Parts: sequence; structure tokens; C-alpha cells
Amino acid sequence: MYKPLESDKAKPMGQGLKYFIETWGCQMNEEDSEKLAGMLKGMGYEPTPFKHQADCIIFNTCCVRENAELKVYGNLGMLKKLKEKNPEMIIAVCGCMMQQQGVAEHILKRYPYVDIVFGTHNAWKFPEYLFQAKRDKVQVREILSDEQRIVEGVPVERESGLSAYVTIMYGCDNFCSYCIVPYVRGREKSRTPQAILQEIRELIAQGYVEFTLLGQNVNSYGKGLEEPVSFAQLLRMVNDLPGVRRIRFMTSHPKDIDLEVIRAMKESEHITEQIHLPVQSGSSRILNIMNRKYDRETYLDLIRTVRRELPGVALSTDIIVGFPGETEEDFSETLSLCEEVGYDLAFTFIYSNRNNTPADRMPDQISDEVKHERFNRLVEVVNRKAMERNEALVGQIHEVLVEGPSKTNETVFSGRTRTGKLVNFPGDATLVGQFIPVRITRANSFNLYGEAVEHSS
Ligand code: 5AD
Ligand code: SF4
Repeated sequence: MYKPLESDKAKPMGQGLKYFIETWGCQMNEEDSEKLAGMLKGMGYEPTPFKHQADCIIFNTCCVRENAELKVYGNLGMLKKLKEKNPEMIIAVCGCMMQQQGVAEHILKRYPYVDIVFGTHNAWKFPEYLFQAKRDKVQVREILSDEQRIVEGVPVERESGLSAYVTIMYGCDNFCSYCIVPYVRGREKSRTPQAILQEIRELIAQGYVEFTLLGQNVNSYGKGLEEPVSFAQLLRMVNDLPGVRRIRFMTSHPKDIDLEVIRAMKESEHITEQIHLPVQSGSSRILNIMNRKYDRETYLDLIRTVRRELPGVALSTDIIVGFPGETEEDFSETLSLCEEVGYDLAFTFIYSNRNNTPADRMPDQISDEVKHERFNRLVEVVNRKAMERNEALVGQIHEVLVEGPSKTNETVFSGRTRTGKLVNFPGDATLVGQFIPVRITRANSFNLYGEAVEHSS
């Protein structure tokens, strides 16, 4: 269990000081950053949107693709001047990149103004590192290679007041041949249902209504617990908590999602009709080399089952182009699969070599030129299909949870449908936090537009 620093020591430490956290990568990192923010708040720090005003800067890094890493190095370089102006400023770097061999040492050496580095398994110890760095004026470094324990009770500072991410499991055991996650996040570990339900109950008491259950592979939730519980059972338990209005979850591995989960979705009022099912490639040959453990046909069968059982379901996916050895024929199978499925949303990635993964050592690496050319063709198909899916909703009325004013216009409000689609519509601040019916009037590939329908709340 997380223990806060003794309040008399900790409080003055951050009183009157500000923090800034920059997060790269997936929702797991977002959630870790919310915990870091929660700990900083507990020490008396307040957030600032500006790096130059911060007394403590944290970079929470991602190493899933090279691009994300390059951004971290670029941003670290830019902190030198800020540190010269304010030598008392504490700079901490954490997250997945730190778990790679040699990276932490490299950062501490090349950017000597970095004060703290720590990894993905010990973020909860951040207050201790901060205290040590301030007291001893030394570079503090602690990276653990894995961690069997799950530390519960870390304070969390969430951005939205309505919708919360709740991590249900950590790590991944799948070892897809291109992916670094199992090496940096460690083996799968599930939180107990008691801890998850308790966290959600507390969030409900604070006004949260929508919950996204997070894990690299939520469908293998519960294995290894003293009293094993399946993901489908967990979904039903969350659904039964009074006050829960919407449940989402990600990510589902196509090899693991089973009929029990689909049945739980169908029979539970609050589980939304939305599934993220990363396909990665439409070619069975490439899927095999990727170590995905399903082929094109089984994936398409799964999609047919999901569509049959959950009418109106929104399907999203992740796709990689330019995996080593991908031929034009393999790639055209990815395109045809996207045409056939018609995803509501697809995250498309150019294959990026990751050190020490099996794919990094494979022959027939694809040239940047070919990768980019294929990527552009894929994006065209994906956007066109998403547009078709969204346009088909025009004229329908959807329940929208109103989140707040849109970023660009104060009289336009936005919220999400049960299927997770963003809808913009004219509204006012009294609607925030309400579930209202909205008629869809217009659509593009990424958003819907509409108008609120009269209703009695
Ligand atoms: N190169 C490109 N994309 C990758 N992903 C994971 N590893 C790589 C890589 N080496 C993508 C996968 C995964 C998503 C989170 O990131 O599509 O589902
Ligand atoms: Fe990476 Fe595969 Fe695990 Fe997803 S399932 S995190 S792609 S190894």
C-alpha cells in the first residue's frame, strides 16, 4: 500500500511550487502521469501549463516507436536553458524508455541537469526520489527490472471529472515480434477485483460516471490471482455497481476475446458497444511472423460474430505498415481487410525497429520510401471507411455525455456517444455532465456534428 510522505515533511516541500508533466504514449502512461500529479498535489504542488513556470518538470516517456523517443530527446535538450535560469528546478524523466538497457545512464550523462530517472515499476516511489534529489543535490536513479507487487492507494489527479481510466492489469505476456512493451512493462499482473471495484466506488462518490478499464491485453485479466476471475466476470461486477453509467475497455487481443465477453457486453446495460481489436496486418503470412496467433480468416470471423451479436458496435484497430518482409501483396491484403471491416477508427503506424525485438533482426527491412507510400494509401482507405461509417449515423439520435465547451468555440459543446464518437453541438454550460439526446446532422472521418433534442431530464 502506498504511504504518503509524513505530511509535516512533505507539505512544505511543495507549498507554493508548481509542476508540469508531459506525457508521451498510451493511456497507461496517461494514467501513470495522473498518479504522479496526485502525489505532487499531495505534497502541496500546483499544476502549471507552462514549463518555464515549473519548479518540477516530469517527462513520462514512451518507447513503442522511435518517433516518440526522438521527441523526448529534443524536449530534454530544450530544458537546459530553463534549468540555468532556475537551478532549483527539479527535472525527472520516467516511463517506458527508462526500462531499456543503457537509456537511463545515457540520459543522466548527456543531460547532466536531469535530477531523477525512474522506470515503470516504481513510479509510486517518486516522492522519495524528489525528497532525496532536493536534500542531497545528487542525481537519483532507480530502475527495477520487474515488480511482482501492485502498489494500491496511490493518489490520482484526474483531468476529467466525468470519465476515468482504471488500470485493471499491468504488463503483457504476448511478445509480438515487433513490440517492446513486454520488455519494458514486464509480465502480466492483475489487480484484484476488490481493489478495482473499490477505486470505482470512490470515483462514483466524486461524480465520475464513465470508466475505461485499461490493460495491454484485458482479455487475459484475472489469471494468476489467488481467486481467478475472468474479464467477463469483472465486467459484470463493474456493471452492477450503482452509479456506473458507461463502461469501456481496451485493449482486446483478437486471440483472447471470447464469447463470454461478448455475452457480458450484450447483457449489461452500461457496457458500451465499442471494441478496440488491433489487427496489425491483413496478411496471414505477416500475422504469423508477427507472432499474433490468429490469421486473417479467424479475425474476420470474429468481426462477423461481434457485428451479429452487438448491432451498432463501433470497431477500432491498430495497423502497422512496412513490417519486415511485407510484400505489395501482403499490404494489399491489409487494404482489402480494411475495406471489408470498415473500421470506425484506425490508428495507423509505420513499422519502427525496436532494439532487441525479433523483428529488428529480421531480413528484408522495408525502405522508408515504400513504408511512407503504403502508409498514405492505407490512411486514404481508413479515413474513407470511417467517413462512411460516420455519415451513416446522420439523422439518428444518440445519447451524448456532455464533457464541456469545444476547444475552438465557447458556444459549441462536445461530448461522446456510447460508442465513443465525439459529437459537437450548440449548447451551454448547464449541460455539462448530463446525458442528452443529440440528433446527428453532419459527419466527417473523425467527428460528428449535431443538435440537442428536447428532452425532460
Ligand atoms: N512499430 C510500429 N508500430 C508499433 N506498435 C507497437 N510496436 C510497434 C513498432 N515497433 C503499434 C501496434 C500496437 C500499438 C499500440 O503500437 O500497432 O497495437
Ligand atoms: Fe505489444 Fe503484442 Fe503485447 Fe500489444 S499484445 S503490448 S502489441 S506484445
